[in-house]
Amino acid sequence: MHTKELPIGVFDSGIGGLTVVRQIRNILPNEEIFYLGDTARVPYGTKSQETVIRFACEDAQFLIEKGVKAVVVACNTASAWSLPVLSKRFGLPICGVIQPGAEAALISSRSKRVGVIGTAATVRSKAYKSALRDRLGKVQVFAQACPLLVPLAEAGWFMHPVTLKVLEEYLMPLVIEQIDTLILGCTHYPLLKRAIRKVLKQIAPHPIQLIDSAESCAVHVRRRLTELDLLSTSSAIGPIHPFVTDEPSRFCRMSRQFLGFPVPAPELVQLKESRG
Ligand code: DGL
Repeated sequence: MHTKELPIGVFDSGIGGLTVVRQIRNILPNEEIFYLGDTARVPYGTKSQETVIRFACEDAQFLIEKGVKAVVVACNTASAWSLPVLSKRFGLPICGVIQPGAEAALISSRSKRVGVIGTAATVRSKAYKSALRDRLGKVQVFAQACPLLVPLAEAGWFMHPVTLKVLEEYLMPLVIEQIDTLILGCTHYPLLKRAIRKVLKQIAPHPIQLIDSAESCAVHVRRRLTELDLLSTSSAIGPIHPFVTDEPSRFCRMSRQFLGFPVPAPELVQLKESRG
């Protein structure tokens, strides 16, 4: 088979990365996608750099052995820690969410005061901060870890009063810093966009632009594949093949919310341990 017609591999710590698949599907509907959710080891956002890198290598290796033409690291935490290692180790295009999100934020921000929300590990990594600063030294970056948001999104509490209250707590320090742009630096946050907008409207004196890292990642993937002449030439809708490392039934229950349309039941797989 010609390389162009091979699938794109996408991985995440769990089901959240389906928000990235959703955006890729929106703008590249003819691409076949292999999606790996490492549901046995989720969350990555509470884990150490070494562990996240090891898991990310195993995830990428799995997809590469399945014969993908490119790997998309949908997980912000895995992108934050492992992108340089993956790019060095594997000889095919690897796309993450951090750089595209940072680029979109710089285009959107007038005041160059940018907020970032993400898991504790993503914030600790300072990956968004470095990506923003590499492009524009004088940008001010304010990051906030939001560990309660992933469980709230997975519980489906998108507009629940508890979620709104938690968001207010997390977002207030960023509003005080007068950010004009906020990067949603986690796979799950697109599901909370409406709630985030509502809270910001209540607590911020000026409008704050939201940057959906899933959306900017999909645009980046299209650009990379175009540059490398790797876009599929098929005119049919590309199928999506999900794989999980634990509990396929949970994936089946929740995937529709993250993706917006149904997918086939995932295949349960075991990943090979990497040498680190
Ligand atoms: N997928 C993770 C991220 O985008 C969130 C869930 C986790 O902590 O593994 O950072």
